[in-house]
Amino acid sequence: MEWNGNTILVTGGSNGIGLALAARFLARGNRVVICGRRQEKLDEAKAVYPDLITVRCDVMRPEERLRLLAYMNETYPDWNVLVNNAGIQQHINVRRASEPWEHYEREIAINFDAPVHLTLAALPHLLERPRAAVVNVTSGLALAPAAWAPVYSATKAALRSFTQSLRLQLQGASVEVVEIVPPAVNTDLGGPGLHTFGVPVDDFADAVFEKLEAGAKEIGYGDAERRLSLVPQELRNAAEQMWAGFRSRNSNF
Ligand SMILES: NC(=O)c1ccc[n+]([C@@H]2O[C@H](COP(=O)([O-])OP(=O)(O)OC[C@H]3O[C@@H](n4cnc5c(N)ncnc54)[C@H](OP(=O)(O)O)[C@@H]3O)[C@@H](O)[C@H]2O)c1
Repeated sequence: MEWNGNTILVTGGSNGIGLALAARFLARGNRVVICGRRQEKLDEAKAVYPDLITVRCDVMRPEERLRLLAYMNETYPDWNVLVNNAGIQQHINVRRASEPWEHYEREIAINFDAPVHLTLAALPHLLERPRAAVVNVTSGLALAPAAWAPVYSATKAALRSFTQSLRLQLQGASVEVVEIVPPAVNTDLGGPGLHTFGVPVDDFADAVFEKLEAGAKEIGYGDAERRLSLVPQELRNAAEQMWAGFRSRNSNF
């Protein structure tokens, strides 16, 4: 995959990791569309990077996901990269989880339902492009959960699993599948001031781009990179073997 000359949709591109990735995509000569819920954050991003194309969208809502993709297909029929980055993080004390279910469900909807829905709905379009990619932003917490963010960690583990299946099923297709696995990064995740212990977002994004341009498909950094290196090869092989076996018995896949 060449990381220039593409038209790229970055969900949650108005702040933090998404904005850092969007800025680097722009600098490499890509057209970049970002989406987010707050218009003022989109406007702030556009003031700094005037070439950004901004769209207001809440990916928690299935109808808004479909509207976003319809906008992309109609306005930029050659768009070819989906970056599923939008995410939220909630601290949940399971002993006192007294909020209505909607409070917990939204983390699942934004962090997991949205990337899965957007990917499945975008794939018919992406598969028609000569080169394309789906880039999913998971987390080092997909590999070892943060107990204070139990639903968050589970959504990231689920997205990592989905990403691995996606990559296996799309072997040989024009759509590359990339997973970005951040460690703690200093952004507004969970609310301003809660992630200041993380690594600087620019250092992280620079390292990600180096690996992306080198063709890496699973991109960690710092502590998350170390966690990835601890995944036994035997476990990685198991998924490939299951897929190869299934495929040999199922000609419609
Ligand atoms: N920071 C870390 O330590 C860390 C570590 C591992 C993984 N990650 C992952 O990295 C991704 C980006 O997070 P970040 O750290 O950059 O957080 P951030 O600074 O809070 O940025 C999140 C971005 O997503 C947007 N967003 C949130 N909910 C959305 C929704 N429902 N629909 C559309 N846009 C939405 C936000 O804009 P609006 O609020 O205006 O919608 C904002 O642009 C997330 O998936 C996160 O889980 C972060």
